[in-house]
Amino acid sequence: MFNHPIIARRHAIKLGLAGLLGMTTVTTTEAINRGRQTPVRYHPKRDFTVVGQASLKERAAAKGLIFGAAADKHILLNTLFANTFTKDCGMLVAENDLKWRTIRSNPHTFDFSKGDWLVKFARTHGMLFRGTPLVWELGLPKWFKKKVNHKNAERFLVEHITKVAKHYAGVVHSWDVVNEAIAVSRSKRSDGLSRSPWLEFLGEDYIELAFRTAAKADPKAMLVYNDRWLDYDTPVGNAQRAAVLKLLERLKSNKTPIHALGIQAHLKARETRFNAEKMRGFLKDVASLGLKILITELDVQDEGLPADVMESDRIVAAAYEDYLSVVLDEKAVIAVLTWGLSDRYTWLSRNSRRPLLYDSYFQRKLAWNAMARAFEQAPKR
Ligand code: GLA
Repeated sequence: MFNHPIIARRHAIKLGLAGLLGMTTVTTTEAINRGRQTPVRYHPKRDFTVVGQASLKERAAAKGLIFGAAADKHILLNTLFANTFTKDCGMLVAENDLKWRTIRSNPHTFDFSKGDWLVKFARTHGMLFRGTPLVWELGLPKWFKKKVNHKNAERFLVEHITKVAKHYAGVVHSWDVVNEAIAVSRSKRSDGLSRSPWLEFLGEDYIELAFRTAAKADPKAMLVYNDRWLDYDTPVGNAQRAAVLKLLERLKSNKTPIHALGIQAHLKARETRFNAEKMRGFLKDVASLGLKILITELDVQDEGLPADVMESDRIVAAAYEDYLSVVLDEKAVIAVLTWGLSDRYTWLSRNSRRPLLYDSYFQRKLAWNAMARAFEQAPKR
């Protein structure tokens, strides 16, 4: 019925997703299911073959996409890691080196040394550079609590954004201007806004103020609103998508200079409640506001998977490919960025063994193939 190989693959993927939603029967790994609520599907014969020698950035670029990853200066000083990174990445994201706590060791000065090092590294290797975050409730320095209050919060916010965005104007591709403003599961407000110091001191308009200030400081950068928990068909996921969409609609109707949504996409290999139709609908709604979409912090937590590495690697790779094959169908999605590249350096090390594309010795894993295959299937932008 599906003679064209791509159509056949897509159909197979849709069937696979239907399977994830419980509509077809697939092999289930007993080891995972015993005593657990959500089954993880394991396909021992699933094909992760990749054709050709091209790097991920080349495969992405062939479809008009950007592939990149987050890293900090101290890990890029490892030359083996840096070589792996520059081979595959078309974009370097500052993982922690541009957070408030890194550049603001005291209320009066700004230390751009690590960020500048990253910019130089990106330039030397022909990579785009991306900054995150200008405004966030976390990642703040210790002095923040003592120093910032109702009276001076606006001055601190405007000063920080202006100084930092101006410093990197012309070299930065995009900024997460505001990160994680919405936390439906923790918020008592109907708009789902998280109880951050910025909300407490400035009210909900801090978000708009942040975007307007960033646009003034760097009129060329792509300005992004970045958030999490947007991926699954769960009560939190559904409410978070609705709240984020409302916020974006409000910002757009106020003519706020915002250009894109960042979807963090910290996925969980054991979470099967992914609903392709809901995700497609959400992406379409965002795109119809005239916004681009970036997948900004992709990784796959492998907590609770079988001890067998080959088996758990297959499940992780499937999670990458199944998610991306849906998301990349939306042409407003312009970039896929992973939160780290090698399992040696990951924020997930407390609960995951192998969440990224390369192992701790910088060897490619099946997740790398999954990424390459997702780019292969993606329609051209
Ligand atoms: C959030 C933030 C990132 C990073 C990760 C993990 O997703 O947006 O900057 O801190 O948490 O640490």
